[in-house]
Parts: sequence; C-alpha cells; structure tokens
Amino acid sequence: MLITKIYQPDEVAKAAAELRKGELIAFPTETVYGLGADATNEQAVKRVYLAKGRPTDNPLIVTVSSIAMMKNYVVELSEPAKRLLAKYWPGPLTLIFKIKPGSLSKAVTGGLTTAAFRMPANEVTRKLISAAGVPRVGPSANSSGKPSPTTAQHVYHDLEGSIAGIVDDGPTQVGVESTIIDMSAAIPAILRPGAITAEELTTFLGQEVMTDRHHVGQTEVPKAPGMKYKHYAPDAQVLIVANEQWQQALRWASTQTEKVGVMAPATILQADLPANCQGFNLGPDVESASRRLFAGLRYFDSDFKVNWILAAGFPEEGLGTAYMNRLRKSAGDQFFTTESTD
Ligand code: TXA
Ligand code: MG
Repeated sequence: MLITKIYQPDEVAKAAAELRKGELIAFPTETVYGLGADATNEQAVKRVYLAKGRPTDNPLIVTVSSIAMMKNYVVELSEPAKRLLAKYWPGPLTLIFKIKPGSLSKAVTGGLTTAAFRMPANEVTRKLISAAGVPRVGPSANSSGKPSPTTAQHVYHDLEGSIAGIVDDGPTQVGVESTIIDMSAAIPAILRPGAITAEELTTFLGQEVMTDRHHVGQTEVPKAPGMKYKHYAPDAQVLIVANEQWQQALRWASTQTEKVGVMAPATILQADLPANCQGFNLGPDVESASRRLFAGLRYFDSDFKVNWILAAGFPEEGLGTAYMNRLRKSAGDQFFTTESTD
C-alpha cells in the first residue's frame, strides 16, 4: 500500500518529480479530477488501468500543456481543427486526431490509430505537466464505473493507497467531463457531450457535426470504446424525475419503507420532504446541477446510504445534453413514472 499524499497548488514541483519517476498523481481540471501518469512511460500507464480497475481496451486521454507538445504525436491539423484549438484551448474540449504511427504506446491508445488530446484550463495542472516535461494520460480519477470525482476527497475515497498523490485545488467548476469531438474523419463527430455544446460547435465551425446519441450494446464495436461500459453508477437505483412529476414522485417516496435520496433544486427540497427522504441541493439551474451531480451521487453512496435516488431531470439542450447524458447512464435510463413504481 502506498501512502497517498495530498499536494497543495504550490507543491507542484514535488508532484511533477513523482510523475517523472513513473508514479501516479491525480490532478484538478475545470471539469473533473484526472489520474495522471507519464504518457511516454508504458509501465506507468498500465498502472493507471490497474488503479482504476479500467478495462484495458478503453483508451486514455493524453493531457498536454501546449499545442506544441501535442504536435509531437499528431499527423496534421486540418483548418477546422486549428480553429477549434485556437478558440477552445485551454478548456473543456477534447479532440481526437490521427497519430503518427508508433508515437504513443498501445497502452495509451488501446491499439487505435487515433488518440484523444486535451489541454485543461486549470493552471496548476498545466504547470504540473510543463514541470514534468512530458504529456500525461488523464482519465477521470475514479474507480471504473463510479461517478467521476469533482473534489480531491472523492479521489482519495476511491484511490487512497494505490496512487502516490493528489494535487488539491478545490472543487471543480464544470462538474461533467469535457466534450469529446472526433476530428479524425471528414465530418466531425461529438462522441461525448460536455460544457462546450453541439449547438455551439456547429455554429462555430459552420459545418455539419455529427452527434451520436446511440448507446452501443455489449456486442457491438464501440466508436468511443468507453461507450460500452457501465458508468457513473452509485449503489442505489437512480430514477430521473421530470419537473412535472415531483409531486407524484415524492408521494411514492413517502410510501417506501427504505430511505430515499432526493437530488433536486432547493425549491423542491423546501416543500415538505417526506420523513424518510434526505435531500441534496442541486442548485437553481442546469449549471449548478452539472457541477454538483457527481458529488450528489457519491453522497448517497458513502455519507448517507439509500436504496433509491430521485434526481431532477433537465431539458436536453445546451449543457442539459451533457447533464442528462451522465444522469441517464447513472440511472440506466430509468425515469420515475407512476406505472413503473406502482
Ligand atoms: O474532462 C475530461 O475529459 C476528464 C478530465 C480528467 O480531463 N477526463 C476524462 O477521461 O473524462 P476518461 O478517460 O474518463 O474519458 C475519456 C473517454 C473515454 O470514454 C475513452 O473511451 C474515450 O475518451 N477515448 C479516448 N481515446 C479515444 C479515441 N482515440 N477514440 C475514441 N474515444 C476515445
Ligand atoms: Mg471517466
């Protein structure tokens, strides 16, 4: 068992030294915390899969501190790709490009001819990468299948004893992982919705952008390999509640013998919650709800155990597309309806 150290933002040099030695260091970003390892050190990369319990055919994001660092691996950048990088980096947009053959290990790419690149907005993390002098793999720093971590404490909960350290820069701002856009084919395709929305990207690029809402089944070959795995699942069963269903949902909750978690805006929590319900405030809008979603799911896993979680749905537009994408996965697509719970 390793002793997992917590590093403050001014201790980045120490954390970078650990990374260079091949150790695993979790780092803050504007979206969620990531689990870093030197992307050029195959042994270190392999330990990332072990620490997370992640299936080894699910490729990792390569996190860089500059476009120049990424160019060591990418074949060529199209004009639209250059425009995206100029506009959105650093920021919550991950881009997939064709890579120079053999430039990244199979442990990073899962054997694909492409790789995903991201430059986080968090300054502490960019300092950490440039101090280490090498790109870093950076999957979300959770145990595979669990909600992504939005605080250093979440990372500690999942990975204590199996990683060397965590750089703590407080809670993340966005709360859902970066938008992933595949720029390796003629028509760009959004593989994962995030804070930079499909609507925004389509307008900015002025061309067709594919959005793939189709969930890949276990036997199909997935476009983004991550699509086929169980995600964000707490121990409790989550039911998504549409705005107009709250009264009925809370009435149903009051008839349960077990405890029920309620993740909703304060306006709903303030109306008399049944005695067996415990509230978690998602804040007033989809921005705050996205920021707090994973913390709420984790709260009802570890701090206040429940069997059911009722969680507020939002319209699937703008940031709501990313929020609902994560919530649907955590709920296995189950919505509260009077029929299904009678
Ligand atoms: O916001 C984020 O992107 C966070 C922070 C820590 O940077 N990172 C993150 O990484 O969410 P991860 O590994 O949890 O999710 C990356 C996703 C995976 O689902 C993976 O399958 C997909 O990106 N991916 C990676 N390389 C790919 C590739 N070459 N083609 C298609 N999908 C790829
Ligand atoms: Mg992840």
